[in-house]
Amino acid sequence: MPTALITGATAGIGAAFVEALARDHHLVVVARDGARLTAQAPAGSEVIAADLATPEGCGLVEARLSQGVDLLVNNAGRGLGVGFHDSTAEDEDALLDLNVRAVLRLSHAALAPMLAQRAGAILNVSSVAGFSPGVRGATYSASKAWVTNFSESLDLQYRHRGVRCVAVCPGFTHTEFHERANIEMNLPERLWLTSEQVVAEALKDLERGRSISVAGAQYKAIVAATRVLPPSLRRLASGMARNTLSR
Ligand SMILES: NC(=O)c1ccc[n+]([C@@H]2O[C@H](COP(=O)([O-])OP(=O)(O)OC[C@H]3O[C@@H](n4cnc5c(N)ncnc54)[C@H](OP(=O)(O)O)[C@@H]3O)[C@@H](O)[C@H]2O)c1
Repeated sequence: MPTALITGATAGIGAAFVEALARDHHLVVVARDGARLTAQAPAGSEVIAADLATPEGCGLVEARLSQGVDLLVNNAGRGLGVGFHDSTAEDEDALLDLNVRAVLRLSHAALAPMLAQRAGAILNVSSVAGFSPGVRGATYSASKAWVTNFSESLDLQYRHRGVRCVAVCPGFTHTEFHERANIEMNLPERLWLTSEQVVAEALKDLERGRSISVAGAQYKAIVAATRVLPPSLRRLASGMARNTLSR
């Protein structure tokens, strides 16, 4: 049975990956809250309680990845509920540690054994926020732009050696994310996705050979438009979105 390692496995999109992959994978699940992780992990899973925003936490997971897995899902990530000027440089830095540095380190650790096997896949959970300037914080959307570009680069460079990489780019998804970041959300229901939708589309897109996965017709349209708009119009659209969200 193939092995999949999933970070941020206890809630939201990570928990939906656990549910979808448990049917036909041996799982290694990662999050900070060890008690919750142990309580929720499917029988027979390996459990690693680790804070991926720290070098020590990353080190624990890197050690497991260096033994080889078939699928790595870099899903753990966070936002900040305040604007750049209202947050501390330390908080912005900690966001980068989790959203960027952990993705880099874990992908690096997983890649060597995958290349040796000439098989494997990495799914990096990014965001549609990475396609345009941030409408709230600045570091979050910049971190996700990095994740998307990084994932496309890995896919381009290693696909012909048997290793795939997909940037999974959700739009607004019902999870614990916004509550954890103290972000109040009053969006129309049509803008919301479920974690199950995001995961089903990501696994389908991996099979279809795509390097970017966007779930939901509404977000496919937004991303397609964003990618062809000239920068000036993209800024204008982001400004309009910011005004709508802060109403
Ligand atoms: N929800 C959305 O609208 C949305 C939209 C676009 C992209 N995304 C992206 O989707 C991914 C998953 O988010 P989600 O919405 O599913 O969030 P969520 O419901 O808040 O779940 C976050 C998961 O990550 C774990 N986690 C948080 N900080 C961690 C750390 N420092 N080290 C290890 N694990 C950590 C949490 O468990 P512990 O607290 O126990 O560590 C939890 O299992 C993120 O990368 C996010 O940026 C979400």
